[in-house]
Formats: sequence, structure tokens, C-alpha cells
Amino acid sequence: MNQQTYDFGLIGLGVMGRNFILNVADNGFKAFGFDLDAEKVDALKKEGGGLEKVNASTDQETFLRALQLPRKIMLLVPAGKIVDQVIENLLPHLDKGDLIIDGGNSLFTDTDRREAYLREKGIHFFGAGVSGGAKGARKGPSIMPGGSRDAYKEVKPIFEAVSAKYKGEPCVAYLGPKSAGNYVKMVHNGIEYGLMQLTSEIYDLLGKAGEMSNHEMHQAFDQWNKGRLQSFLVEITADILAQDDEHGDGELIDKILDKAKQKGTGKWTSQNAMDLGIPVPSIDIAVSMREISALKNDRVKADEVYDRPKPILIEKKKLTKMAEEALYFSFIITYAQGLHQLSEASKEYEYNLNLGTIAKIWRAGCIIRAGLLADITKAYQAKPNLPNLLLDPSFSKEIKGTISSVRTLVAYGAENGIPLPGLSNSLTYFDAYTSGRLPLNLIQAQRDYFGSHTYERTDKSGTFHTEWEG
Ligand code: 6PG
Repeated sequence: MNQQTYDFGLIGLGVMGRNFILNVADNGFKAFGFDLDAEKVDALKKEGGGLEKVNASTDQETFLRALQLPRKIMLLVPAGKIVDQVIENLLPHLDKGDLIIDGGNSLFTDTDRREAYLREKGIHFFGAGVSGGAKGARKGPSIMPGGSRDAYKEVKPIFEAVSAKYKGEPCVAYLGPKSAGNYVKMVHNGIEYGLMQLTSEIYDLLGKAGEMSNHEMHQAFDQWNKGRLQSFLVEITADILAQDDEHGDGELIDKILDKAKQKGTGKWTSQNAMDLGIPVPSIDIAVSMREISALKNDRVKADEVYDRPKPILIEKKKLTKMAEEALYFSFIITYAQGLHQLSEASKEYEYNLNLGTIAKIWRAGCIIRAGLLADITKAYQAKPNLPNLLLDPSFSKEIKGTISSVRTLVAYGAENGIPLPGLSNSLTYFDAYTSGRLPLNLIQAQRDYFGSHTYERTDKSGTFHTEWEG
């Protein structure tokens, strides 16, 4: 029964896996799931209704027999050792030409290792970032696949059908060889961390500088979401601020412990940016802030040791306008940094990425989807080798129109003891990136002074050393 009739296999029927496979079936493909947990298999069968389009088993042999050749098997299991274990279990039973797709947030170097290992055995391996959470998986995620271009053809119709659509265009595209898909998803998550940090700072500012209630803040975010800041993260922030606490008085947001967790993708983005020598300070600080937030006990003790100024209030309407401009400015800067990292990684790892295509498939479905991405797509389509978004004429106009609010709010935060590291890092990045001359000539002199590291001159070519002492 069920011999080789299913178009698509999925391993790992957790929340993401179950939603993704139902999405595949909804789009007219026959999909078969596999999980060792009988409860998850039963839950899928139940939710799948009739078993014609979607089926599942706890038995790997049944699963593999059900799939058409070459098999297309997607893994939605936790990143790390489990992916290797699942691959090892499958390997003896696969046929040459079968395709394994890792849909998790795997580290890109792991994907490269797995791809090379499986290629030797005649098996194709894809790392495909899937963004959009459970709802995205069910209704249309943004998918970021990388691996062999030929193998992509096998899975393209399925991915295009299940992905989110932006004005009818699928939010999936072949991104490049090897680990290109996982790498792009990693940077997507780095940007996600940056945007989330910025949003939390604006929430803090509205509360402390404007004494705005959750309801007033809800209205501000909701209003912004109808304008140029339209984005998934601004939209859900508005929703969150309106959520009542079902276990007590007031809104839930006030009862949530201020310790942010992380699974590693933001940190990997920062770490790799350092390896590439590309500055992404708006992302770095978002990782650091999650780390600082985790030090809750220490923070509470230190709070008692040091006084903090009582913030001078800013009139609500004025504050809301400045906050919108500052958030918009720093969103642009964060995308600019992530895209810059992608352009360098493309050269270093020979991914041959097309940044216009990446911005295009981020316009819907994923966590960092935003109205801004349509403009970013246009900027890179017009100039595929744009070194930095800040050099695009339409973005420089937006930056010029918003920067004075960022300066005012960052200075205000410093004077009033409100930490705004995402906003200030974005501003400092901008000021440094747009400075024709920086004081790093002094660093070169110091390096040469104590270590004879040499320096270059502004007026002559060549390498110079000075005997500084005496
Ligand atoms: C997505 C998200 C998702 C990620 C979570 C949690 O694109 O759908 O990026 O893949 O796992 O956002 O990430 P942290 O636990 O590290 O915050």
C-alpha cells in the first residue's frame, strides 16, 4: 500500500513540521510525514482529515516506501546533532538522486559539511531556511533554499506553491550553492534580532519619556503599521500592547519577565560578520542586550546601587513623531548592515547571491517582512552591486529626512538614563560610515609606536615606520 505515490516527505512532525506538511497537502501535493512520536503522527492524521493527500507513520521504512523517486525529504527537526542522526538513519535506505532538505536553523558550516558528505554518496542536500513561525508554515512561509541548482528543480513547484505570495509572486527562490540558503536565513535572523531590539527601545522610550499607557502605545504602533513602518514586527507589537492579562489586572506585557532567550542564529550572524570584517553593530548590540537581559539578578542589585535621573517628559505627540522617524531610520540601517554582510559572504563563500532576489523573497511570509523591503528590492534591482543601502539615492533621502529625530532621542536617552543601544549604534554606524575621515589615523600611529606595525600616508604611497621615541 501507498507504494511510491507521495510527492513529498517530511521528518519531524512538531509544530513547524505539522503545519508545513498540511500546507503542502493543501496545495494539492501528496505528502507523507514521519516521526517516532506516535502522538504527533496521530495528531497529523487527525488534522489532515481524509488520508488521501496527507499520511504519516512512525516507521521509517513505510515512510521511505511511500515516496516517489527521486525522494524529496524535508527535515524540520532541531538544529544540531539530531540532523546528523536523522541523515545517518536514512542513508542506507536512500536511492541515488534523492534530495534531503534541512528546513531548520542549522549553522551554515554544518550544512556545507553535510552537503559534501552526501554528495559523495550521490544524495543531494539542501539547506532551506523557513521563516514565518507556525502560522507561516501553515499559510505561506518565506523559504530560502540553497544547494545544487539541478536538485532545486525537483522541489521548486512544491516550494513555490506553499510559499507566501507578495502580489502573486512566490517568496522563495534558488539562492545559491552549498549553504547559501542557511546563510541567508542566519542573516535574516540577525536582522530580526536587530529590529526586535529597536522596537523594544522605542516601547521603552514611549513609556518613560511620554508616560504613555500600553493602550496609547498600541495606538502609536498600530498607526505606524499603516505607514512606511508597515511590518510584521510593528504589527505584532501593536497587538501585544493591547493584550489583556487573563490572570490578573491590566495588560499582559507588564507581567512578562524581562529576560530574553535566544537559540543562536543572531549570535552566529555577529560572529561571522566579525570573521568577514563587516560591521553589523545594530545586530551585535541586539545579541548583547539579550545577554544583559539574562543577568536579571545582577541588574536588580546594581539598580539599587546607582541613581538614575528621572526622565524629563516629552509631549506625547512630538515624542510619537520622533519615535516613528527614529525607528524608521534604524530599521533601514539594520537592513543595510545585514545586506552588506550578505554581499561580502557571497564573495567569500562563492554563493553568487542576488541581493535583489533575497529582498524580494523577504517581502512576505517571513518575520522581517516590511513595506521597506519593496524599496530595498528596487534599489538592488537597479544596482545589483550596490555596496551599501546608504548609497542608494532614495534611501539617502529617507535617512536625511529622519536623522535629526534619532540624534535628539539618542541624546535624550543618554541624559535621562534610558538605554537605547540599538538606536545609538545605528546612529553611530551611520555617522562613521558617512565620515570621509575618522580618527583611526591615531590608532595607526599608536600601533606603529608600540609595535612597528607601520602605517600608510595620505600624501604618499607606500608603507612607513617612524622611530617615535627620542
Ligand atoms: C523565523 C524565526 C525563527 C527563529 C525564532 C527564534 O524566521 O521564523 O527566525 O526561525 O527560530 O525567531 O529565534 P530565537 O530563539 O533565537 O530568538
